[in-house]
Amino acid sequence: MNVAEVRRKYIEFFLGKGHAHVPPASLIPENDPTVLFTTAGMHPLVPYLLGEKHPAGTRLTSYQKCIRTGDIDDVGDADHLTFFEMLGNWSLGDYFKREAIEFSWEFLTSPAWLGIDPERLAITVFGGDDEVPADEEAEALWRAHGIPAERIFHLGREHNWWGPAGKTGPCGPDTEMFFIRDIAPCGPDCSPACKCPRYCEIWNDVFMQYNKQADGSYAPLQMKCVDTGMGTVRTAAVLQGKATVYETEVYQPLMDAIAARAHPEALTLRIQRILADHITASAFIIADGVEPSNLEAGYVLRRLIRRMVRFGRKVGIPAGFTPELAGVVIGIHADAYPELEHNRERIFAELKGEEEQFTETLGRGLREFEKAFAGVQKGRERGGRSVFPGRRAFELYSTWGFPPELTQELVEEQGLEWDQPGYDEAFKKHQEASTVEAGKFKSGLQDHSAQTVRLHTATHMLQAALRRVLGRHVLQKGSNITPERLRFDFAHGEKMTPEEIAETERIVNEKIAADLPVEVREMTLGEAKDAGAIGVFGDRYGERVKVYRIGDYSMELCGGPHVRRTGELGRFRILKEEASSKGVRRIRATVDPPAAPEAREGEAPA
Ligand code: ALA
Repeated sequence: MNVAEVRRKYIEFFLGKGHAHVPPASLIPENDPTVLFTTAGMHPLVPYLLGEKHPAGTRLTSYQKCIRTGDIDDVGDADHLTFFEMLGNWSLGDYFKREAIEFSWEFLTSPAWLGIDPERLAITVFGGDDEVPADEEAEALWRAHGIPAERIFHLGREHNWWGPAGKTGPCGPDTEMFFIRDIAPCGPDCSPACKCPRYCEIWNDVFMQYNKQADGSYAPLQMKCVDTGMGTVRTAAVLQGKATVYETEVYQPLMDAIAARAHPEALTLRIQRILADHITASAFIIADGVEPSNLEAGYVLRRLIRRMVRFGRKVGIPAGFTPELAGVVIGIHADAYPELEHNRERIFAELKGEEEQFTETLGRGLREFEKAFAGVQKGRERGGRSVFPGRRAFELYSTWGFPPELTQELVEEQGLEWDQPGYDEAFKKHQEASTVEAGKFKSGLQDHSAQTVRLHTATHMLQAALRRVLGRHVLQKGSNITPERLRFDFAHGEKMTPEEIAETERIVNEKIAADLPVEVREMTLGEAKDAGAIGVFGDRYGERVKVYRIGDYSMELCGGPHVRRTGELGRFRILKEEASSKGVRRIRATVDPPAAPEAREGEAPA
């Protein structure tokens, strides 16, 4: 059974059970500032899982493209993927555990559908902990379908609990279904919890009963929901008797195209898989409107392309290969995802541009790395330590633009130790040395007068509004604040229309009126990135950063200071919109100081 057939059957099965088919959402979440990518089929449905009415009803099904970035460094083994597709069915306060498990059972085992031999299925259920009891109900339901106790495993929260993609949202215990491969148990304790390939997870039914709050507590959901996820390609792989997804028809042509271009002696299976995964993810991300950059999703894309360029070079693949491989991706997936075909030229152009640019940096950087490495090697031969000094890694970055995560990979490949503290220290020293310089760019905020602080908060609010009105390509290119006005430069190709200006003002004023809290949190750059904060990431690797959050409206890396609530701002007005340079617009705007109620009550103005 091929991938397209698994997908078609799934949707058909759930249509037959009264579900509506919702089309796939973009990989870039539309209304969720807490994550960079759509990470699961449930993600675009979160508002409905929380109680909003879905126009298509209370039973939904979909196939959804997803990106998970937590695993980029693990890609290359048998299971980890950056891009994957998830099939799912949802009950929005409609059916719950009994029917969900019944549907899963029927679809998996009925000869009319997947026809999996029930003997080949193992199940996990939530085993309970201090906060939530074991899911005995799910276990009893599976037993009733004939699954024997020895093939039902009770696992803890790390396995059988589904938390939200961001920090808050719907969650609950889940029950997972595993295909048992024809592989002997790895030991007496072999189970779906171990890492061995005997048990392959194919489906997850989540029973959403709670809403995780910002303070970490769990509030009961008003209506209970079901959220499920089945990996399309993984399921097709086990049905085909293939050991990994890479052997299925949605990766094999890519694996072949990579092998055809590489030096056979240099190519490893790991690198072949990394290239196949990364090019698939990159093509899909670009198709959804992202371009390589140092920010947010653009930064993830950049990292994926750069890793491909490095590995491609390592195994002797001639330059210019990323657009060629993307052509293969489009051929494989365009039936289910026509946006790939529609964006063919843009996908090629973005990949070509980034590949060319990075090839240059890489060539230079690798030469410098070799020199540094030779030095360490000599020291090691003389009995020195096998650590690659973080200071050298920082030099490679600051002088040659060579990304530290690449240096780290190279260092570890050579069997050397990576020196993160040394890197951080060099980074800090460099920062201190450039503080004086940086001060000039802190946009007038040496002046912490009440009005410049208000304008600073208004700048964040303006950026968030522009991203809503004009699109997510809008990002800060420069900012300057005086007590009279803010000036904000941002990436955007065209002059704004009067309607766009009016709408931008309206949104900012609406958020001022909402009196949103402005909160600051310190976190690592990685955490900020995962949280979906915007700001310049590329230059501040390894740093702890401050992230300012304005309600759920805006989240930015920033040194502050800011007002405590948006209500401290008066009316926001755009004074002027004009060109700044090619592809960059400039806005001057101001906020009226908030009306002081006492002054209005009869006191004569000064
Ligand atoms: N949202 C659940 C998952 O991704 C179904 O596993």
